[in-house]
Order: sequence, then structure tokens, then C-alpha cells
Amino acid sequence: MKRSRYVELAIIVFCAWLACAGAAQAQAPAQTQQAPPAAGANLGAGTETGIGTFQTHCMGCHGNPNLERVPSPDMIRQMSPERIYDALTIGAMKAQGESLTEDQRKMLATFLSGRPLGSLKEGDAKDMPNHCASNSPLADPSSGPSWNGWSADLTNTRFQSAKGAGLTADQVPQLKLKWAFGYPTGLSAFGQPTVVSGRIFVGSDIGYVYSLDAQTGCVYWSYQAKGSVRSAVTVTRVKGHGATKYAAYFGDAHANVYAVDAQTGQELWTTRVDDHFVARITAAPKVFKGIVYVPVSSSEEFSSSNLDYSCCTGRGSMVALDANTGKQGWKTYVVPTPVPVRKNSKGVQQYAPSGGSIWNSPTIDAKRNAIYFGTGDGQTEPVPDTTDAIMALDLKTGTTLWFYQAQAGDAFMGGCSGPDRTDNCPKVNGPDQDIGNSPILRKLADGKSVVVFGMKDGTVTALDPDRKGSVVWKVHVVEISKGEENSFFARLNGIVWGGAADDQNVYYGLQSGGMVALKLATGDVVWRATFPKPAGARVINSAAATAMPGVVFLAGSDGKLHAVSTADGKSLWEYDTARPFETVNKVVARGGAIASIGPSIANGMLFIGSGYAVTGTNSGNVLLAFSVQ
Ligand code: HEC
Repeated sequence: MKRSRYVELAIIVFCAWLACAGAAQAQAPAQTQQAPPAAGANLGAGTETGIGTFQTHCMGCHGNPNLERVPSPDMIRQMSPERIYDALTIGAMKAQGESLTEDQRKMLATFLSGRPLGSLKEGDAKDMPNHCASNSPLADPSSGPSWNGWSADLTNTRFQSAKGAGLTADQVPQLKLKWAFGYPTGLSAFGQPTVVSGRIFVGSDIGYVYSLDAQTGCVYWSYQAKGSVRSAVTVTRVKGHGATKYAAYFGDAHANVYAVDAQTGQELWTTRVDDHFVARITAAPKVFKGIVYVPVSSSEEFSSSNLDYSCCTGRGSMVALDANTGKQGWKTYVVPTPVPVRKNSKGVQQYAPSGGSIWNSPTIDAKRNAIYFGTGDGQTEPVPDTTDAIMALDLKTGTTLWFYQAQAGDAFMGGCSGPDRTDNCPKVNGPDQDIGNSPILRKLADGKSVVVFGMKDGTVTALDPDRKGSVVWKVHVVEISKGEENSFFARLNGIVWGGAADDQNVYYGLQSGGMVALKLATGDVVWRATFPKPAGARVINSAAATAMPGVVFLAGSDGKLHAVSTADGKSLWEYDTARPFETVNKVVARGGAIASIGPSIANGMLFIGSGYAVTGTNSGNVLLAFSVQ
């Protein structure tokens, strides 16, 4: 029993944080412009296990809309961790808190607020010793070398040009650590750094967004969001805010989107894009021609098997906001509106359909006026065929242009794989594929284009955007050994956070370790690379790759950052980030696992965060900057 829970937890965490991706075809339009269902309960970032504790101990009152004076789960989620902790220990919820362990109280406070205790005060740049001496007017972000968001471009190739990189393949072996910045009280340095106008913009798990100087790491400002900020920041021109020229855009763990003045960190607007209680934004919005495109996901799948819970009403969506005002335009849900379907054995109403979280930053196809993204699995049966799919929407209207379902029938919920499963659970749980990585749009030598994505089972597929997403090629890069076909883990050894592509190849890191290069035109394997590791150790390399001419970078759960040649996969450089670092802001910091992001490269420098609490022991809180000088 104990063991099964542990395994289950590992699966949930694995799936949730590594953004969960399978094979089939389909039709059924997604829903546009619908009101979200009145959410029973939902949470978000931080400790995913907190959701179960909350469902069992708190939802009886806080999930009951008929009780007066009881703040809704959603309202509690807007509170600070200190306020929630105080309520449970010395405040109004002392009696309820007494039936919990101290760890559970802290976990609830962290989980509900979406950031650690103590982070509110400690994270503020005001108290840091490394303020920049001056804050000269920000240069136009589009005027110089940049890595602006999840990818250096809008098409998610994660490729930096020779000009943008300011670094050659020959220089890569000479890369040296230039400075390190510590995220106060942080446990996961999972923000993909943005580099524009000589500055870094990066979010943190403690809910602060920082603006730093790229050369020195001195701090210009911090902005405190209402929840953790995993999404990369995009900086572009903004209008209608007086002297403010450029805004930094990002989303948080409570489905809030923000625009702040990129020069000063002053808030310009904030918009909540989904009011489901565990709705969240984990991936970077894209900003294009005055519109912010926001991918919405949900934490509901982590623990919805709880019989006290009205499972399930959370679902993914893409939302378009006016970049100047934050006003919402279209919103397209991945699955139709959940409706009551049955009561569970405890008499608690159950809903379907649900799921289809969008865990990845969308891809903009300016030529075809389309936006592409991957969708997550369903939670409840029957599973809509827009789940585990690539969807293409019209940029202007949000109408579905086409979709390709890679895995049919994937209903997955944490708590449903072991002997403790309840009748909230889907009849068949999983395979928990999800398409967690951003589709890569690339033009081929023959003038045709492909939309390429990978899945957790190791399938890589190229779709034709000119033929409604029909399959150009499809290959399996991870062998599933005989007898393991139905093994849950064996089917999760492939691709999670995504690849990088130059004009020849696409490069994917693998959950089972190492990486693979495939020809963009055919899907043929060009080479495979393995990285040295201690005998018997499992090292996960499914973080996102980053490419520049001649070099592809990939990090691992062991904290090692590798640079290999795009020609043959041979090692060019390696750096071990899993150690303590002295930091420019004097915060005690160390690196750990790098399990989600890849380096951002611009103007002769390379930036990456190290530390990822979800892998277990390898948490960390450091942002590292490298250059050849
Ligand atoms: C028996 C019903 C009940 C249960 C169970 C319950 N609460 Fe409450 N909770 C309330 C009520 C009523 C209030 C409003 C109290 C007030 O305004 O004085 C409240 C208020 C709160 C507040 C707001 C405190 C503030 O500062 O305004 C938090 C936070 C909270 N509850 C968290 C929890 C958590 C976490 C749990 C589970 C461990 C929980 N509650 C379980 C009934 C309940």
C-alpha cells in the first residue's frame, strides 16, 4: 500500500511537471467562446500532493457554494502562503489545522498560494545588494540580438542564428561561468531566461520576475506575481501607457497574465484568463502583432480520484488578449463544456469531458495565419479526440482549422494506477501521453513546411500545415523492448519538453537519456548521442534542446549541460551545474537537475537556470551566465 502510493506519486509528479505526450487520427471541433464551468475545486503550482490533502480535509466546506462566509478555493489561492499558514496554525482554521501534520500545513500553504513560505519578503530585489548603478533607457528589443521567450523565434525552433548567437562552434569549448544569480528561497530554477536589449527577464518558482543586466547580473527590478512564474517572458512594444515603451509579458500558476513595464517593473495590466480553481499557465504566451496568445493548463489530473471531489471540470484552452490592454478576445477550449454524467459511490456528482491542458508555448505561423500547439490527455471518459493532439487555430478568430490526434482514448488521473483507485477513475488509466512540447515549424529545402513534435513514448511526427496536418513522416526513436509494450514507464521514455531544429535536422533529448538527431525532411536518424553517467544511474535528458550553427545544447537531471556537434553528436563541451555557486546577489544558491529548460543564447552569452525540485533531491535555485571572455 505504502509502496503503491509512492509509485503513484512518482508518476503524477513525473507527468505533471514534465508536461505530459502517443498515435491515431480524428475530427470534432473544439469549442470556442464558452463560459468555463463553475469549478468545484482546483489548485496549481507547487506541491501537487497538496491537492489531495485539500480535497480530503478542506473541500467539504470550501468546495460547498451553499456555505456562507467560506472563502472559495479560488479565493484562498490568491492569498499569500503566510496568511494560509497562519490561518491553519493560529487563525480561523486552527481547529482544522490541528488534525494535520506540520508538513501538511506547510504543503497546503505552499500548494494553495503557489509559492514557498518566506518568499514574499525574501524575493524582493529591493533588499538585494547588487542593484544596477543606473537604468538607462531600454533599447528596442527587436534592434539587437535576442532570445525573446521560450524560443528565439515565434516558430519554436529554439535555434539561434550565427548573428544572434555572437558565438561560434569553435568558441563553445571556451565558455566560462561569468556570473550566477540566486533565486531566494527557490527550489526550481525552471524559468527559460529571456535576453533582450542586453537584459535578462526571468520568472521564478517563488513568484518573482527579475530583470537583470546580461553582462554583470546586477538587478534592475523585481515584480511579484500572484503565483509562481514558470513561463518565459516576452518583451515587446506596448501602447497606451504614457512613457512606457516596452512591456514584459508572462503568465503565472493561477492563470493570471501580466504586462509590466520592461524598464521599471511597474504593472501595466493583469488579466485572469480562466477561473477554474486549478487552472494555471506553465508555458510561455506568444506575443504577435499586438495580441498575447496564452496557453492554459490545469492541475486537476494530479489527484482527482478523491471520492469527495466532483471530478472533473478542468480543461485546457488558448486565449487571445489585447497586448495593450489585457482585454480578452477569443478563447478556444480544447474539449467541450463538461456536463454532469453520474454520481460516484459517495453520491458526489461527476462531470465530463475534461482535460486537454496546453503545457507548451504555441507556434505562430504568420504565413498561414495559424497558431499551433500540443494538447494534453483527457481525465474522464469518453475522451474527446482533440486531446493528445496538435491543434491548428485561426490566429484572428480562434476557430479550429485542423487537428491531428496522436493518441486516442487517453484518460489519465493521478491516484488511479494502483490498488487505491476509486470509482472516480477512468476504466483504463493512461497511457498519460500528453504532447508537452511546442510544435516546431520549419521550412524545408524544397519550399514545403513541416510541423514537428515528439511524444513521451518516443514517437516523432511531422505534419503538413498545407494539407490540414496530414502526416508527412512518423518514426519511433525509443525502442520498447518485447514484453514491455504495456508497461507504464516503458511508454514514457521518449520526448517531453521538446527539441530544437536547424534547417537540416531536429534534435530531441530523451527521457531514457541521451539525444537523437533526425532529418527534418524524412525523419531518418542522423545520429544518436549518449552522455557518460555513473553505472546504474538513471539520467533524464528530456529537457528542451537549444541549437545554434554547428552546436546543439542539452542538459540533464544530473545537472550536466552538454554541447555536442550537430554534425555527429560528438561532445564539444560539458559543464556540471549541480553544485553550490557564489552569487552576485549573495543568496545561498546551488544548481541541481535541469529537467525542463535549455539554454538561451544571445550576443555571445549563454544563460540557463539549474534546479528542479520535482526530480526529487536535485532541487536548486541558480541562474548561470556563461561567455567566452
Ligand atoms: C468546517 C468547515 C471548514 C473546513 C473543513 C475548512 N474550512 Fe477554512 N474556512 C471555513 C470558514 C467558515 C472560513 C471563514 C472564517 C472566517 O471568516 O472567520 C474559512 C476560512 C479559511 C481561510 C481564510 C482565512 C483568512 O485569513 O481569511 C483559509 C486560508 C482556509 N479557510 C483554509 C482552509 C484549509 C487549508 C482547510 C483544510 C485544511 C480548511 N480551511 C478547512 C470553513 C472551513
